[in-house]
Amino acid sequence: MSFDPAAPSTTAFVDQLLSRMTLEQKVGQMLQPERMAITPEEVARHHIGSVLSGGGSAPGANVPADWIAMNDAYWMASMRDEPGRVPIPLLYGVDAVHGHGNVLGATVFPHNIGLGAARDPELAERIARITAREVLATGVDWTFAPTLAVARHLYWGRTYESFSEDTTLVASYAAPFVRGLQGDLGTDSVIACAKHWIGDGGTTDGRDQGNTVISEEELERVHMAPYLPALEAGVLTVMASFNSWNGVKCHGNRYLITEVLKERLGFDGFVISDWDGVDYLSDDPAEALAMAANAGIDMFMVSVKWEQYLDVLLQHARSGVVPMSRIDDAVRRILSVKHRYGLFDRPRPAARPWAQHSCLGAPEHRAVAREAVRKSLVLLQNDGDILPLSRSARILVAGKNADNRGHQCGGFTVAWQGTSGNQSIVGGTSIWEGIREVAPDAVLSEDGSAADGAEHDVAIVVIGERPYAEGMGDIRPPGTVQPGSRTAGQPAPLAPYGETLELRILHPEDLACIRAIRAQGIPVVAVLVSGRPLIVDTELEHTSAFVAAWLPGSEGQGVADVLFGDHPFTGVLPFSWPTIGTRWPRGYGL
Ligand code: BGC
Repeated sequence: MSFDPAAPSTTAFVDQLLSRMTLEQKVGQMLQPERMAITPEEVARHHIGSVLSGGGSAPGANVPADWIAMNDAYWMASMRDEPGRVPIPLLYGVDAVHGHGNVLGATVFPHNIGLGAARDPELAERIARITAREVLATGVDWTFAPTLAVARHLYWGRTYESFSEDTTLVASYAAPFVRGLQGDLGTDSVIACAKHWIGDGGTTDGRDQGNTVISEEELERVHMAPYLPALEAGVLTVMASFNSWNGVKCHGNRYLITEVLKERLGFDGFVISDWDGVDYLSDDPAEALAMAANAGIDMFMVSVKWEQYLDVLLQHARSGVVPMSRIDDAVRRILSVKHRYGLFDRPRPAARPWAQHSCLGAPEHRAVAREAVRKSLVLLQNDGDILPLSRSARILVAGKNADNRGHQCGGFTVAWQGTSGNQSIVGGTSIWEGIREVAPDAVLSEDGSAADGAEHDVAIVVIGERPYAEGMGDIRPPGTVQPGSRTAGQPAPLAPYGETLELRILHPEDLACIRAIRAQGIPVVAVLVSGRPLIVDTELEHTSAFVAAWLPGSEGQGVADVLFGDHPFTGVLPFSWPTIGTRWPRGYGL
């Protein structure tokens, strides 16, 4: 299924629409404000083409009924039929990057790094199909996924959004993911968005939004290659990347967006800018917008200042700073995508077949997420074959991530930076809750203080990172980054997660917990919840078995499935694992 905007019906349809649209209407289509910054009335008045939810931005009580009501209101506004107005249905976009994680009660799948460990593109396709349905249940049509970043530095806070450091493995997920989301563009499909174009995973020191300094040959071979199967599968949208390539911001790079992506690779959908990503092109907002539009950005994602964008873009079109041919090309692409997706034929969101469907968070969806958890686990150490555990063993469960669904879901879940605790993740099971179902005599002691050598045969200690997203997950050893400022090409860096990949320094409480249990002579099985490999040499010295669980999502039961031997360990490392001593290569797993 390859997208062909030149299909006679789409071309004729879009031509006819374009011929009736005023410049104001065209420019309105090119904007995507954040929901908090725009009302339905303003959508109608300014002919806005799209609205998004930024990470964690949700209407009302964040349940499907609220989402449907919101989407219905925006859609009705966009379709208002008044003299001189061309009704064009609005597209709504979200970050459903590991399931529809923004929404309470949705199924939350492992982040991409875990899917990379599973080496199962067919499973990823099923996950994407399920995600599409849960997204549709809320009246949304578009998800900013899949991320096709090839993360080359573990310091990067977005490492977990990357399937692997290996281009070939990332590329193997691209088409299945797009197929799962977009299907045949029927009523059970959503629009996919391959992101971030391009080189996001290759920045110096893994700095989020940083500079990727590599040759064009390497850019193509490492970072561009996964986009080819996505384009082949007909991905309808692509998001520009915050990073620079050899000092030039991707958002303003005409060569990469227009000449390479659109002309050479033949991408005929539309390109959306990332969150205010245009602003970093120049200190002068008008110049920045001209650079981005002329580089080939078709739709602008804006947090707040959408009215300024509208005004400036109108002025640029009138003065010719942005040629009318460019405006028409952008709008043609946007309308073609809407037409190909069938948006013009769909009724209001509340009347669509999947609206408020009970599939959101349904048991059969959660079963697939649990399967994904099982397949993503990587066994790194198993001294004396301590695993699998016996259900009748006297088990102590400890560690700050043992009973914390928020932590096991990671970033981009309910809130942009993720959440802490069980309450915010509606449905699912923590890792502890999963263990308790299998081994009813197991006891929980988060800090390990209840450990007693006379009472416990073995301890499962669930350790690791707290949730984070984007630059707030970066690791920045002192001296690796110059202080940023909000000047041209220099987004202000977010406060990083830490200064080292060494877990004993990042989270000393984990080692303290393990040691307290070892002091009682109890062998320890460690389960690491983290968005990336961490240096765990010291923890390894004190543990018999060590399992990398990545960010497994809402279905913690999948961990117990494997720890107790109901299913085998099959996952292997999607990233090589740094250690001070020996290094585990990519592909390793017992
Ligand atoms: C991220 C994108 C995301 C967008 C919308 C940005 O900060 O870089 O990946 O799609 O926000 O939430």
